[in-house]
Amino acid sequence: MATDADRPPQVSSGQIATVRRWLSAAKNLMVITGAGVSAESGVPTFRTADGLWRQFNPMDYATPEAFHQDPVKVWQWYDARRQGIVAAEPNAAHRALARLEEQGKTVFIVTQNVDDLHERAGSKQVIHLHGSIWRLRCERDGNVVENREAPLIEMPPTCFCGEVMRPDIVWFGEALPWRPLQQIEDYLLKGPVDLCLVIGTEASFGYIIELAVQAREHGARLVDINPRLTDLGKMADVQLPGKAGEVLADLLSSQP
Ligand code: APR
Repeated sequence: MATDADRPPQVSSGQIATVRRWLSAAKNLMVITGAGVSAESGVPTFRTADGLWRQFNPMDYATPEAFHQDPVKVWQWYDARRQGIVAAEPNAAHRALARLEEQGKTVFIVTQNVDDLHERAGSKQVIHLHGSIWRLRCERDGNVVENREAPLIEMPPTCFCGEVMRPDIVWFGEALPWRPLQQIEDYLLKGPVDLCLVIGTEASFGYIIELAVQAREHGARLVDINPRLTDLGKMADVQLPGKAGEVLADLLSSQP
């Protein structure tokens, strides 16, 4: 017979009521998202049981060395991901965040995702820490272009200068680009943050945990939404053990 330990943790109505109260009172929200926020749109995550890094070695697809060794192999992998993202639709989680912004709240989204589902849902302030799957960058002349071909017409895509272009994405072993970091700093300097929602991330990188801590230092209550209890989830004021789309739809269900 199934015991409590076997059942996935349930989001308690008390937790939902608490976060709903915080949400309706909040004017300024920081939202940190990861692959889990796009999971219900059919975009694969990385480290869950069916995640990309369970099927593919990240050292073969997401490092500058792998790209220089075999750019076509890397581009074919990204081309398949681009086609998957084109076919995907924003889910209830993306839409809920856009709705909160429509209600007049500041919703500053910092995402690790390279997809554009937040923007397609209507969110206006989206900072991509790890770059975008729709941007290409030339390592010779620094040329950056938007390219939404899916599939790519030219394989591998090349720059005007003839150089093979790379995805404008942050790969393992690479530093974060300065501009998103500057945008985050500027946002935090503007004043107190009321609420920080962390949605669908394993928070494997220290800078993600650091960001949540900074939001808390700027006054935010910290809420983590993830079916799994992560280290960041353990730090949260409230951890909501559920799927982002379902939990956010529930949180906003009583809102006008
Ligand atoms: N709703 C909320 N969370 C979910 C859902 C869902 N429907 N489905 C899965 N999750 C959670 C998982 O439990 C896991 O904790 O989302 C998290 C996804 O973790 P990862 O796959 O590790 O993705 P992420 O944290 O975004 O990875 C960070 O690592 O590989 C690099 O550059 C890549 O941006 C990526 C970064």
